[in-house]
Amino acid sequence: MKPPSKHGSPNDFQTPVESLIPLYPYLKKNWIIWECSCGKGNLVNKLKEEGYNTIGTDIIDGRDFLVYQPEEFDCIITNPPYSLKQQFLQRSYLLGKPFAFLLPLTTLETPKRQELFKKYGLEIIFFDKRINFETPDGKGMGSWFATAWFTNGLNIGKEMTFCKLNVTSNKSRQLDLNGLYCNENPFFG
Ligand SMILES: C[S@@+](CC[C@H](N)C(=O)[O-])C[C@H]1O[C@@H](n2cnc3c(N)ncnc32)[C@H](O)[C@@H]1O
Repeated sequence: MKPPSKHGSPNDFQTPVESLIPLYPYLKKNWIIWECSCGKGNLVNKLKEEGYNTIGTDIIDGRDFLVYQPEEFDCIITNPPYSLKQQFLQRSYLLGKPFAFLLPLTTLETPKRQELFKKYGLEIIFFDKRINFETPDGKGMGSWFATAWFTNGLNIGKEMTFCKLNVTSNKSRQLDLNGLYCNENPFFG
């Protein structure tokens, strides 16, 4: 097995758009989706391309998710800065809107977060592979940890969903919907 590759801080990783595929069945087309730490805008651009009304904000543009919120939004989707995952989760639960955060599996570890999940609820979408993030130095793909969508309010209907992500090559940024199967529909198997 190859040693993990480390390039830059996960706080700055940008998310490949195929990671959004398992969320689409649960996103209503009339929702305003807020990507609240959008970075370079990978997820915002893809959600717009898919026809979702999407707002992108980031602290680099002066919009701190921990204090700012847009006038109107129905759902929050982001890959947040991992160093602030506790604060991002707390704030999202308090905002009371559906959310999906792409977070390391270790997010499940701490008693403080477990209390949050027990109190407010959590539905997780797991991938069978690690997501290959875009690293800030552009030297490679950082994936020394596994991630999953930590969601609440999307009405998935079960606490754990398992998805198969068929990535043909590390460089592939374009996956069609058949690239991923979970449970019993084109997305799920
Ligand atoms: C891991 S990157 C992910 C970028 C983008 N969400 C994606 O998935 O491609 C995390 C982003 O969070 C932003 N960020 C850090 N602290 C923030 C805060 N308090 N409020 C909003 N954005 C923040 C960073 O500037 C960075 O762009």
